[in-house]
Amino acid sequence: MSEALLDVYPRLPIHLERAQGQCLYASDGRELLDLYGGHAVTPLGHGHPALTRALCEGHRELDFFSNSLHMAVQRRAAEGLLEGSAHLRHAHFVNSGTEANEAAIHLARRLSGRKKILSFDCSFHGRTQASLAATGLPGYRRRLSVPEDEAFNGFISFGAQDDLAAIDESVAAVLCESVPSLAGVLMPPEGYYPALEARCREAGALLIFDEVQGGCGRLGHFFAHERFSVQPDMVTLAKGVAGGYPAGALLVTAGIGAAVEHGELGTTFGGGPMACRMIETTARLIREEGLLQRVGQIFARIAAGVKPMEGVKLRGAGCLIGLTSRLPAKMLQKRLLEANILVGTSADPRVLRLLPAYTLTDEEIDRFLDALGSALAEA
Ligand SMILES: Cc1ncc(COP(=O)(O)O)c(C=O)c1O
Repeated sequence: MSEALLDVYPRLPIHLERAQGQCLYASDGRELLDLYGGHAVTPLGHGHPALTRALCEGHRELDFFSNSLHMAVQRRAAEGLLEGSAHLRHAHFVNSGTEANEAAIHLARRLSGRKKILSFDCSFHGRTQASLAATGLPGYRRRLSVPEDEAFNGFISFGAQDDLAAIDESVAAVLCESVPSLAGVLMPPEGYYPALEARCREAGALLIFDEVQGGCGRLGHFFAHERFSVQPDMVTLAKGVAGGYPAGALLVTAGIGAAVEHGELGTTFGGGPMACRMIETTARLIREEGLLQRVGQIFARIAAGVKPMEGVKLRGAGCLIGLTSRLPAKMLQKRLLEANILVGTSADPRVLRLLPAYTLTDEEIDRFLDALGSALAEA
């Protein structure tokens, strides 16, 4: 590792030079199948020609200007994201997932006049102050530099109906990681989210869905909350929202939109014209190229393929997949890497994560299944 870089990331021993589709080209000549999607960031695979075109044309047409002027591309990106939503009406653009969550938490506190944010004890929401304070996973939470009693957060156990009683009149909002991913891809029990939403309405607490990972089609609906039949007051997006270009968004209802004041949210780069072009193009391709159906087919083919493999279990949905086997996740990841297949791990040492592009082909899935079978046979 170069000494010029601050050494904060544990990295796998791959020196990546370029990528195309689902193929990662390393400097030692290896070609790897990417089932990690740059950490759930590339829903259309790498180097999609329509995105390359959007980026080049976008740069030629309008490289950058700040939010002090009107830009049609921003409106198109917002409309592209909101299209088809039953209840979300406005988008505010930012640069990352943590920033989108900070904005949602700020609005929840300001509009409710309450301070407390409740989230799941196994959640991950980002590395900045309010997002990290709302992050439940202990390995990340211990990095919090603010004293716990000043963080104004509380936690409920994911999926536990009994804990919903904690949503009372002191709570500004419940921030839900739609499918806790880093925790090991946990799906909510049937009816859990509608019950949580009903409790929020009774207590006058806002409902925020963090769809940074589960949104933009990854679960087979454009929005994760649609899969769980709830209507959050605010939804946060990032990761895949711009097909690999850094961007994030906060989506809100008309009611929240009407209460927002000039100047209370803002960022220089958020909503930049190139990011907006990438958002607009990505949302259009996800909807128009049948990719919402494709993610369901990808999950089904992997599920059918692992069925006969002893001790292998799948969880999750669409292209957000957790896999457990009789091998620890890190060992299985290493064996798959030896077969030139890149997968992720999670905070649960048993759970391997697959976060592939929605353009993954049947042949690529079968290559993974063969490699998985061989890796487990060696065990
Ligand atoms: C569910 C969820 N929320 C928020 C974040 C933070 O996003 P970012 O790294 O873009 O700040 C992540 C990142 O992994 C995430 O998975």
